[in-house]
Parts: sequence; C-alpha cells; structure tokens
Amino acid sequence: MEAKAQLLFSVLFLFLVFVHAQSLQTYIIQLHPHGATASSFSSKVQWHLSFLERIMFSEDDPSSRLLYSYHSAMEGFAAQLSETELESLRKLGEVIAVRPDTRLQLHTTYSYKFLGLSPASRGGWFQSGFGHGTIVGVLDTGVWPESPSFSDHGMPPVPKKWRGVCQEGQDFNSSNCNRKLIGARFFSKGHRVASISPSSDTVVEYVSARDSHGHGTHTSSTAGGASVPMASVLGNGAGVAQGMAPRAHIAIYKVCWFSGCYSSDILAAMDVAIRDGVDILSLSLGGFPIPLFDDSIAIGSFRAMEHGISVICAAGNNGPIQSSVANEAPWITTVGASTLDRRFPAIVRMGNGKRLYGESMYPGKHNPYAGKELELVYVTGGDSGSEFCFKGSLPRAKVLGKMVVCDRGVNGRAEKGEAVKEAGGAAMILANTDINLEEDSVDAHVLPASLIGFAESVQLKSYMNSSRTPTARIEFGGTVIGKSRAPAVAQFSSRGPSLTNPTILKPDIIAPGVNIIAAWPQNLGPSGLPEDSRRVNFTVMSGTSMACPHISGIAALIHSANPTWTPAAIKSAMITTADVTDHTGKPIMDSNKPAGVFAMGAGQVNPEKAIDPGLIYDIKPDEYITHLCTLGYTRSEISAITHRNVSCHELVQKNKGFSLNYPSISVIFRHGMMSRMIKRRLTNVGVPNSIYSVEVVAPEGVKVRVKPHHLIFKHINQSLSYRVWFISRKRTGEEKTRFAQGHLTWVHSHHTSYKVRSPISVTWAK
Ligand SMILES: *[C@@H]1O[C@H](CO)[C@@H](O)[C@H](O)[C@H]1NC(C)=O
Ligand SMILES: *[C@@H]1O[C@H](CO)[C@@H](O)[C@H](O)[C@H]1NC(C)=O
Ligand SMILES: *[C@@H]1O[C@H](CO)[C@@H](O)[C@H](O)[C@H]1NC(C)=O
Ligand SMILES: *[C@@H]1O[C@H](CO)[C@@H](O)[C@H](O)[C@H]1NC(C)=O
Ligand SMILES: *[C@@H]1O[C@H](CO)[C@@H](O)[C@H](O)[C@H]1NC(C)=O
Repeated sequence: MEAKAQLLFSVLFLFLVFVHAQSLQTYIIQLHPHGATASSFSSKVQWHLSFLERIMFSEDDPSSRLLYSYHSAMEGFAAQLSETELESLRKLGEVIAVRPDTRLQLHTTYSYKFLGLSPASRGGWFQSGFGHGTIVGVLDTGVWPESPSFSDHGMPPVPKKWRGVCQEGQDFNSSNCNRKLIGARFFSKGHRVASISPSSDTVVEYVSARDSHGHGTHTSSTAGGASVPMASVLGNGAGVAQGMAPRAHIAIYKVCWFSGCYSSDILAAMDVAIRDGVDILSLSLGGFPIPLFDDSIAIGSFRAMEHGISVICAAGNNGPIQSSVANEAPWITTVGASTLDRRFPAIVRMGNGKRLYGESMYPGKHNPYAGKELELVYVTGGDSGSEFCFKGSLPRAKVLGKMVVCDRGVNGRAEKGEAVKEAGGAAMILANTDINLEEDSVDAHVLPASLIGFAESVQLKSYMNSSRTPTARIEFGGTVIGKSRAPAVAQFSSRGPSLTNPTILKPDIIAPGVNIIAAWPQNLGPSGLPEDSRRVNFTVMSGTSMACPHISGIAALIHSANPTWTPAAIKSAMITTADVTDHTGKPIMDSNKPAGVFAMGAGQVNPEKAIDPGLIYDIKPDEYITHLCTLGYTRSEISAITHRNVSCHELVQKNKGFSLNYPSISVIFRHGMMSRMIKRRLTNVGVPNSIYSVEVVAPEGVKVRVKPHHLIFKHINQSLSYRVWFISRKRTGEEKTRFAQGHLTWVHSHHTSYKVRSPISVTWAK
C-alpha cells in the first residue's frame, strides 16, 4: 500500500465505480470441498459451470459468466450474477459461502546494509546462499522485466519443482523471463468487469504482466532484486541496489490495475501460485480489517500455509489510528513500516536568515531554480483547494516564478509539485499539517522542493505573515547516512490491537518502509506522474508496501538456510530475534515516545539472527483450527476459512486449556477475570545439549509466573513445553480498556546469540 498509488486509485474510484451499467455483479462462491456432485463431472470447471447452469434463466452461455475456477487457494469459483440468480444460488446445497468481489488497494540501495546483512561477513547472507533456490511470488502491479534488478547474471538454474509460466501479453513474451524472473502471469477478469476504461490522463495499462505503475517492480526488486552497482535516483542515495534475497527467484502475479486489486483476481493468483510451486508469497496490498471468514486473502493464505508457503502481507497505511492493522490472520506474517537512518536534507533558508529542516531529493543538476532565492507564496481562500495545490487551483499570476507553499494531504505529494510547475511556479515547499506532524516521506519531485514538518510549517507561515515580501531558498544537502536515530515506527504504519482477533498480537514485526529506493519501470518518471518525462531505473517510495517485501526476502533467506521449516517456524524465527532498540541502543521510537507492541509488534527484523534463532515456536495447520474454535467461530465459518468440517466441541474437549503456539503473547482479562494461563512449546533448532533459562519483564499491573524456569534440550528437533500464569493485580471492567506490555525471553546458558524473545501484550477489556 503506497501513498502515490493509493491516491491514483482513490481518485479514479470516484469516477469509475458505480457507473457500471449492467446489473451483473461479481461474486466469489465457495463450495463444499468434497461436494457430493463433484465426482460426477469430468473436471472442476464443469462442476463449477453446473451451478451456473442450474440458476441461469437467460440465454447467456454460462461460461461467459464464469470468471475463475478455484481449487488450490479455495474450492469454488468467481462469476457474474444478477440479484435473482444470486438468490437461487444461495439455496443450492454444497454452496457454503457467497461473497461479493471486493476492491483492495496497494497499500534498495541501502536497506540491506541497515538491517545488518553484509556480503563480507560469514553471516546470514552466506549461510542462506543469499536466498539460493527459493521462489518468491509477488502479487502486485506486475514487473518491468528489463530493469537491471531482474538480470539473471550469476543466477542458479530455475528450480526443478517450478511449474509456473511466463504468460504472453501486451509487450510481454516468454523471452522476458529468465533465471531471476522465472514466472509472470496476470489476472484481470475481476478488474475488467468492474471497471470502465481509465481516463485519458492516466498511464497506459499494459494488458500483460508488464508493470504500468511501478509499485510491483519496486516491491519485487526489494524482495529479490539482483545486485546493481551505482544505482541512484537522479544521484540521490547512490550505492549498490540489492534485494533482501539477491539469489532468490521471483515470480510475478499481476493482480492490481488502475482501479485497485480485486479479491477475485487475488484469489485466482494465489490459487495458481500454490500449484506453481512458490515458497513465499508477498502481498503489499489489502483493505481494512474484516472477519477472517469474509477475507479472501485470509482464506487463500490458509491453503497456502498448508502447502508450506509463507504468506507475508503489509499491515496497511492507516496508522496511527488504533486497531487499523489489516491482513491479521494468525497464519499470515503482518508487517509494519519503520524508518531508515538515511536522510535527504533540503534545508529551507528563509529571508530572515532562519533555517527550517526539510527533506527532499535533489531534482537534478539541470534545474535552474535549485538553490535559488525565490519569493514565497501561499495561496489560500476560495474553494478551489489552492492551499493543497490541486491541479488548476493556482492562479498563474500569483505563483509565476515563485516558491509555492502547499499543505500536505488530500492529493498526492508529487502531484502537488506538478500542479505548481504547470501553473508556472519555480519551487515548492510541502508543509505537513497536524495530521502528518514530522513524518518525512520524500519524493523525486518534478521541481525543486522540500517537505517540512508541522512545527516548521508553523514557523514558515508566521514568517510569511510578518514579512511583506517573504523569500526562501532550498539548500539541498545530498544523502546523509547515520546521523539520525533509526529505526523508528513510521507514523502511517497501521496499528494494533487486531480488531477481529485481539488474542493474536498484530502487527507481527516492522521492517524498513520509509524512503525505500528500488527498481522502477521505464514508462514512468521517478515521481510516478504521467507528466514526468524523466527516466530512471530506481526511485523512492514509502509505505508498508515497501516494508512487506523486505520481510518476504528475509523469509526467503531463512527458507534457503532451513528448507524443512514451516511458515510458522520462519515467522517465529523473525519474531523472537527482532530488535527493540535502535542503532543508538535506545528504545525504538514512535514519534516522540518509545514504540509499543501495537506499533512495532516484536520490533525491527534482524535477518542475521533470524536465520539462526536457536529455538522456534512451531504451529501445525490443525492447531489453527482449534484456535479458531476457541475464538467462538461457528462450524460454517471455520469451514469457510479452512475447508474442514470440524466439531469444535470435540476439538476443545481434546485440547483442554489450548493456546495457539504463537511466538508472541497476547493476554486479555475480560469480565472481571483475574488470571490467565497460556502454554507454549519450543523446538530446538540450534545446538544439542542446550540449557535455556527464562527472563521475564512483567507488564505493569500483572504478576507473571513461568513453569519450568529452565528448559534442557538434549537433541536437535526436541520440543519442550512451558506454561505462563498471568495474574492481574487490578479489577477489570471498572474503567475503559487498558493496555500494558512486557516480554518473556529464553536465554541460552552460554551461546550468547540465542535469546528467544516473545513480546507480551495485556488488555483489560470490559
Ligand atoms: C519477444 O519480444 C521481443 C521483442 O519484441 C522479440 O525480439 C522476440 O523475438 C520475442 N520472442 C518470442 C519468443 O516471441
Ligand atoms: C497568518 O495569518 C493568517 C491571516 O491573518 C492567520 O489566519 C494565520 O493563523 C497566521 N498564521 C500564523 C502561523 O501566524
Ligand atoms: C537503466 O538500466 C539499463 C539497463 O541496465 C541501462 O542501459 C540504462 O542506461 C539505465 N538507465 C539509467 C537512467 O541509468
Ligand atoms: C459436518 O459433519 C457433521 C457431523 O459429522 C455432519 O452432520 C454435517 O453434515 C457435515 N457438514 C458438511 C457440510 O459436510
Ligand atoms: C530435524 O527435523 C528436520 C525436519 O523433519 C530434518 O530434516 C532434520 O534432519 C532433523 N535434524 C536432526 C538433527 O535430527
């Protein structure tokens, strides 16, 4: 989910959706996995068509209504139906759920170094062979295959297990795939029937896996891009560009188009990706939190997980609003965004001599206004949105040759720059409001610009008020590394607690997602605007969309180093080794306070440690089902998610006092309850004959007891259990919801790198 793309999609949304003339709507129909009539048809497609034949009274050919037939990510199909057909369909046996198709949104040269991966050391990159042999599937806007990040120079052959294809389409044929980019497909049926053609000023959409928007090229190169020397954005952030797993293979599934990403297309891509043989699925997209049984991504990823595929998703960009985290299923790894310690200073020196700190990318040597002293102007009043610098809102006479102040928000950051340029403005100051505070996502603007924080905005505007002819100059400071505290939680990163399932702590983890430099297509300029005629191989983007593929690439490294590990084990390795301090050794910050577990989950991923975590918390697919039972989900809801017909009564009887073996701990005191007990099971993946002792930092207001205190593992693969009692010292229900946090760590007796840490959250709910 990235801000630029989101804007494009939401603007188009206003014009496109709901004007569709037909009364047909797309629905995803889920069927009983062992439907009695299935065996009487020659194929799944025939079986799925038989449902349409039974309910359609029109002359239409049923196959013209069938968009997709699913069998790996879900049993069922997507079809276009009228209201009356829908009613008939609901009544048919074997139909277990019907959901309308929904529209979801898209939510580096340097970040690998920041995360502590170094090719020189004998560290994690070496142990994992840089992701050797692992296949990362990316569901996104497609790929620009000619980008140097997808060169297969020095890549090993395509893994034998790979069954995917390089699908032909507009400007895309089989020669666009290679040993790096081993597969590419596109899924557009859901999108096509829901949308009319784009308005003329948007970029041309390729009807193929080729990326028209840049987002997918950026995310897939972050996960597994090849090493590219001397990469930069117009000279900014220069260095070696490299994905997290530079020797992993990439498979592209294009599911996002100009109006967004439809769940019918996403499910179709997951369905095929499971059969293609991917090891990791990376989804930098999503919506708002919804119940798991209504969530196509949750359902498809359950099946993927059963096939041993790790599903990694962006948490969303709706922070800092509480409980905004999306993609929260316990079998998904949910990723929030953090900052890097790389800055692009663009100091605003005001006419009164005072300096305001701002950031931006230098627009290139050829711009005559870069660094020039210019008259400042802030156009307010009227209802054209000129303070936000909407296109066409700025009177040429007022802004010609001047430095225009634009308030942040509503329209895209780079688009404001284009609006100023079109009106004849020479430069721009993008002024944060009290919504964005000091958040500092930079862009490769089409003119000299600087983004300033809210405090600086107030200073700037009061200077402008006090001066008859206010002036300013932007002093570009290049790229500065290591001077500021990082990582910190990105302000926009979606926050927990999970709305639909607070018993699981979400987000799971954070990774770099602010000002990430990665590959970019050749049909777009670095600002992503259709008007931008500059061409670059790399650009900068911010969002949890950018954080997600960092985790996908690291999951690939862990998979390469430990090919037998389950998705739960890979997630556990990342969670229990995450860092909670920044590179100065102080707590990771969230704006002006130390970050809590609902902002950063377990903390910042530490790939070097995650490859060799010592112990893991593993989870078998059946355990997720018991977990869903303990949440009170009904038999039909559980069947919709898991495709299993289970008796929760029996499962809960058989597993008295069950707790999901999740690597983090979330305790809820409800209805005056004063104590809770949870169980966990650790598996030794480090060294034989290991003794671990527990260390606990109890959440405030809670007494914590762990039994036993020591775990003695004789062998590799040996599992041992422990229990934790949480005793509330407070009465609950008297006041509104309250939170506290702590952690529990198993520490190896002499192997100092093995510290297996679980964050704890405690909630008192009414
Ligand atoms: C693929 O497209 C390229 C460029 O248009 C062309 O040179 C090549 O012959 C095509 N390859 C195949 C297999 O069609
Ligand atoms: C600047 O002046 C305008 C109009 O008089 C006023 O509304 C605004 O609050 C002033 N801003 C600052 C930062 O002083
Ligand atoms: C982008 O990469 C291609 C292929 O490596 C190269 O030919 C081209 O010069 C690069 N463009 C820029 C602007 O660096
Ligand atoms: C699920 O199992 C129960 C009991 O075993 C059975 O009565 C019911 O018909 C089954 N439901 C489905 C949809 O198969
Ligand atoms: C541990 O279990 C894995 C997966 O079953 C197996 O591949 C590995 O050989 C086992 N290791 C040892 C030392 O037994």
